[in-house]
Amino acid sequence: MSVMNEMRVFLRFLDTKDSYTREHSERVGRYAIEFAEFANLHIDIELLHTSAMLHDVGKLFVPLDIITKASRLTAEEFQQMQGHSRQGWGMLQQNKFFHQAADIIKYHHERWDGGGYPGRLRGEDIPLMSRIIHLVDAVDVMLTPRTYKKPYPIEWVVSELHRCSGTQFDPNLSPLIVDWVGARGVGLPRTTKAA
Ligand SMILES: [Fe+2]
Ligand SMILES: [Fe+2]
Repeated sequence: MSVMNEMRVFLRFLDTKDSYTREHSERVGRYAIEFAEFANLHIDIELLHTSAMLHDVGKLFVPLDIITKASRLTAEEFQQMQGHSRQGWGMLQQNKFFHQAADIIKYHHERWDGGGYPGRLRGEDIPLMSRIIHLVDAVDVMLTPRTYKKPYPIEWVVSELHRCSGTQFDPNLSPLIVDWVGARGVGLPRTTKAA
């Protein structure tokens, strides 16, 4: 089985569980590579794409009623939800195609200031690709409507990216993301269907 085929299998599993998470994964995959190319980052684009597409694959282990819950999560539910980044790593770390992606996926919820999870890594200790995925993930979450929230306008997204630069987000990358969002503007696609 090829990398692409195996990735499609994982995405199909995700889709069966929760089509929002599959669509979100595809957008985050596309945004990550678009951003890396826009910012001229010299990194392995294929690895970034794979990691971004599979960043939330660990949600296969999170109960659907928690993933889709419209009201506030309890502390225990929140803990289960947070487990998805480590579980994604656990699923893929032995996989011959995805073991490198596994390490990037594990850290996609780390924050620049060390307040993230699961490792509470800080600054450049967080893999660069995890920092990129963290940013484009946040952009997609802010721009996408859910049952419990409306999409935020682009201007609000940009102000959040500024406000959280150096705390949540890598302060070197966030101005570049702001430029990318500005360049994409209202054309930033909000939904996608699998090919
Ligand atoms: Fe995630
Ligand atoms: Fe995500």
